[in-house]
Amino acid sequence: MSTSERVVFSLAVLLLGSSLALAEDRKLGTPITEADIKALNITILPDGTNLPAGKGTAAEGAKIFAEKCMACHGEGGKGGPFATLVSDAPLKGNGIEAPKTIKNFWANATTVYDYIRRAMPWPGPRTLSDEEVYSLVAYILASNKIIDADAEMNAQTLPKVKMPNRDNFIIRFPDKI
Ligand code: HEC
Repeated sequence: MSTSERVVFSLAVLLLGSSLALAEDRKLGTPITEADIKALNITILPDGTNLPAGKGTAAEGAKIFAEKCMACHGEGGKGGPFATLVSDAPLKGNGIEAPKTIKNFWANATTVYDYIRRAMPWPGPRTLSDEEVYSLVAYILASNKIIDADAEMNAQTLPKVKMPNRDNFIIRFPDKI
């Protein structure tokens, strides 16, 4: 290290040290609690890890859908101003432009749960109860004829749903999962 490098290095250490001391002195920040982390950690893994308790059926989901989702996704989810959620359209073409739907593209039913709970309804994400999300997922999967019309969705049954396109994904780094 040259003399000037040494000066810069010492200054950096000094500044870092003093800002840490300042933060401590002013009592900035609060240690995060397990409960805080739990509330933020809503990621559901493909195998269903972290799915909440609760259950739902398509019959319940139909009512919630009509009230909170239909305006944007159309009657029965068959298309409105925004994404079509119920469709038999095949996945055609290879490009990024190929129209993808839940039935022809999504690999895991558990992701549908994660997505709806996290992002929908668009104007009020995270306002749905866990049971409402199970019901909506059941409704969308049943309407797409992926599950039986009266099948109950819960933390045990949802990960077992086989999405039609599940085996067509190429895992780039299989040894990493
Ligand atoms: C105000 C409009 C609006 C409402 C209400 C709404 N959504 Fe959406 N939804 C969107 C938009 C916009 C997207 C597309 C976002 C994107 O792909 O960038 C979307 C995407 C989705 C998708 C993903 C579709 C796909 O294949 O990528 C699902 C599933 C979904 N919404 C479910 C719901 C459910 C369930 C409700 C009711 C609780 C709901 N949405 C209410 C606007 C809305």
